[in-house]
Amino acid sequence: MSEDRYLTFALGKGRLATKTLELLERIGITCEEMKDKDSRKLIFVNEEKKLKFFLSKGPDVPTYVEYGAADIGVVGKDTIMEENRRVYEVLDLGFGKCRMCVCGPESARELLLHHERIRVASKYPLIAKEYFYNKKHQTVDIIKLNGSVELGPIVGLSDVIVDIVETGSTLKENGLAVLEEICPLSARMIVNQVSMQMETERIRSLISQIRELL
Ligand code: PRP
Repeated sequence: MSEDRYLTFALGKGRLATKTLELLERIGITCEEMKDKDSRKLIFVNEEKKLKFFLSKGPDVPTYVEYGAADIGVVGKDTIMEENRRVYEVLDLGFGKCRMCVCGPESARELLLHHERIRVASKYPLIAKEYFYNKKHQTVDIIKLNGSVELGPIVGLSDVIVDIVETGSTLKENGLAVLEEICPLSARMIVNQVSMQMETERIRSLISQIRELL
């Protein structure tokens, strides 16, 4: 495909986007426009390299990539698993490392062990369902929350939670602990399936340049 076509990146807002831009900068891809913190612009262009970048909410990144509105996306593995979109996951970027875990008070360990029908609160109902139903073969009630999930067991909404653990300090400060580990997480690069065929060379070259830095 000709170099005239723009390659569009969707980046999950926040730390992941900052880290991704640092990484891209190290392979000579810069986007000066994006560094202006006061700008309200949503889309940024690097004319020379024919690249476009936009920031979106993390869970929307796989959506943009599946529909081809972005060729490439960078987002956490947690979001990729939860959104379950038809995209290629091509690279582990190695930052944003944390774990998806089942957490709760120590007293809930027993309930897990005996496969009791427990209540599980999570921002990630699909990951929770996949883990309990398909991996553990345990019937549970899953309750979707949108944040501060640690409150679940504290206020008596749920027995346990399925959530991201990074340093573990949120759990500790709230008297909770990791009871089971589901999987490790980190930032991943995803690619639209058609873009991968149409722009194979540009995308492959990008992947191998980034891989050399990791
Ligand atoms: C995440 C996660 C935990 C916390 C874990 O929440 O849901 O609450 O970080 O980090 P720690 O192990 O280093 O304490 P986030 O800050 O993304 O906000 P949220 O509660 O709104 O999901």
